[in-house]
Amino acid sequence: MPQHIGILTSGGDCPGLNAAIRAVVKASQDAYGMRLIGFVNGFRGLVQDQTMELDDKVVSGILTDGGTILGTSRDKPHRMPMGGKSRDMTDAIVDTYHRHHLDALVCLGGGGTQKNALRLAKAGLHIVTLPKTIDNDIPMTDRSFGFDTALGIVTEAIDRLHSTATSHNRIIVVEVMGHRAGWLALGAGLAGGADVILIPEIPYDIESVAEAIRERTRRGKRFSIVAVAEGALSKQDAARVESLVEKKHKADSPKQKESASEALRQFHDDHTGHTIRFTKQLEKLTGQESRLTILGHLQRGGTPSAGDRMFATWLGAHCANVLQAHTYGVMLALHDTAIRTVAIEDVAGKKNLVPPDHPLVKAARLVGTSFGDAPVGSPS
Ligand code: F6P
Repeated sequence: MPQHIGILTSGGDCPGLNAAIRAVVKASQDAYGMRLIGFVNGFRGLVQDQTMELDDKVVSGILTDGGTILGTSRDKPHRMPMGGKSRDMTDAIVDTYHRHHLDALVCLGGGGTQKNALRLAKAGLHIVTLPKTIDNDIPMTDRSFGFDTALGIVTEAIDRLHSTATSHNRIIVVEVMGHRAGWLALGAGLAGGADVILIPEIPYDIESVAEAIRERTRRGKRFSIVAVAEGALSKQDAARVESLVEKKHKADSPKQKESASEALRQFHDDHTGHTIRFTKQLEKLTGQESRLTILGHLQRGGTPSAGDRMFATWLGAHCANVLQAHTYGVMLALHDTAIRTVAIEDVAGKKNLVPPDHPLVKAARLVGTSFGDAPVGSPS
């Protein structure tokens, strides 16, 4: 009997999803004769049994398309908004899986998807995941697809901002996505020659940022580019987050834990837009006209880079081998020059953050980039 495989995309979209879907479908059909069915809009498609037949014809021509032909959502199986209420829909998902006589379900997604996939694996489903996200924050893989394209988009944006910043003698702050990780801001900041790079993993002091810019002015540089990760934190904010996280971990009762979690959620909600306040403050401190560019979802849209098409195709094709071998409960990961499987259990709930002494951070410091952490009064 040929295997029957379900596939879905979940979490934020990113370039390379269609390339991965195409590769899973083509390789598993052509090489192993499997049948494929797509579930639309992430895990919700499994709950509502909304499907899409997937074959060679459907995936023809999608290699170069951005987004996902399956649609996506941030719905979680165990906490899904249904009729105005949040409900645990795990059982409905398990029913759909069995109703379609699936042998396995392939989930393409980021950190949240890995956690949800683990829940479904624990509920008895055969799961294989692929790592996608522009944030590059999935652990146990050298890379996630989507990151390379976003890196190119942000770098090009920084290149373009350079000419307008120079012409106007301005500071231009550019806010870069990445959730709680700084890979995108660090990579594009380095590639685009940003003068200051602020990432969540290295809390900053705005006075130190201002001093780095004043120093540039003293050296005759009339403009500055500041690449700020959306999750970047000032030293005070980082201390606040640390104390809330500690409170959450040390909570004696579920009520205390929920209240600390709520305070953390509130902090992160309020933190959205912090670059607006930051830019105004920087203008005040330096006396130099400043502007802010928030790149937003531009970073996730459009055609995947050649690197992402290549990587997503490699992952998708290898996924067919893993399915054929009946290996489940695993995420496919890049390790040096090979794709290997790692247990979803070892990935879920963890984050790949930038080590503050990462070689790229060291390289950036050596070429004079400030991370806003130098004690004020010392060279950045
Ligand atoms: O995880 C990808 C990502 O683009 C993050 O960089 C960003 O914080 C988040 O998704 C934005 O999510 P949404 O598209 O739901 O606004």
